[in-house]
Amino acid sequence: KIFFGEDAMPKEMNGYRLLPGFEPDSAKVAYDQMEINESDILIASYPKTGTTWVVSIVHQILYGDNPADLEKYSALQFCFHYLEFGAVCKYEVFKKISFPRQVFATHLPEPLVNMKKFKANGAKLIYVIRNPKDQAVSWRHFAKGFAFAKSEFWKPLLPEDEKEFYDVYLAGNQYAFAKKGEGYLECIKEWYKHKNDENVLFLVYEEMKKNPHNEIKKIADFIGKPLSDEQLNNVVEKTSFASMKKESEKTAPDNNEGAQFFRKGQIGDWKNHLTVAQSELIDRKVKEILGDTDIQFIYE
Ligand code: A3P
Repeated sequence: KIFFGEDAMPKEMNGYRLLPGFEPDSAKVAYDQMEINESDILIASYPKTGTTWVVSIVHQILYGDNPADLEKYSALQFCFHYLEFGAVCKYEVFKKISFPRQVFATHLPEPLVNMKKFKANGAKLIYVIRNPKDQAVSWRHFAKGFAFAKSEFWKPLLPEDEKEFYDVYLAGNQYAFAKKGEGYLECIKEWYKHKNDENVLFLVYEEMKKNPHNEIKKIADFIGKPLSDEQLNNVVEKTSFASMKKESEKTAPDNNEGAQFFRKGQIGDWKNHLTVAQSELIDRKVKEILGDTDIQFIYE
């Protein structure tokens, strides 16, 4: 079971609701006090869009040639790498460990991340998007593992019934990392204003899936660590869904927490789960919320 006790409640930050485990105090320290260097990389995303995958690709690119470093930095950063996850005292630990390059992740909405500081210090931002239908399906399966899902507070927000779950989710009643009534699409909209900024790379889950060599090469070039053909092939292999799932099962603690981040890893599973009406509702929302951007989601 993931994310704390059966009675875990979400916290709010400036009107945005964070999932249990994600702490406004830690997000605030990241915003106000955390030191950022030119070589640092921030991977931002909405949950269930391929975050773990991108973090892993970046780790493999940076440390793939050196298994000891890879293990050291991936393991250390796994617990810490979300800016807003866990206790605020982790920032004391950050100061003591000197990472050659810090790789951070965040699910925070854009206004809660100090992008001015990241930019002023020359750090790089990677944002990954995934089509909202597969994101919703991935989210439902992930949410089934929440220890708190059956509490009085969460039960109506995370219904067991599949159709009901998506109805509640799409109505914006769960609003994780979003404002009341909002969700994934609004979050993308806020981040997307950085699309053409320097030091920013937007990735698309489905493009990574369809052409991993291309997209991984793009990431490596972007973070200033171009790969030889052999290194590239190696990263593609090590970060394939099958390899990552297998690895997580090997290293996950007894409750297999890590493995829950690897379910199917496919494009188009939404067809097995959403009703036609729910799929059409998402199409309408995409038009309404992201219609004035050039985003074209890939659904199959
Ligand atoms: P599914 O539930 O559709 O399988 P996040 O890391 O942001 O929580 O995203 C999790 C989703 O990314 C899950 O989607 C998971 O299976 C998928 N994923 C993780 N690693 C992947 C990989 N190497 N290739 C493709 N998909 C991957």
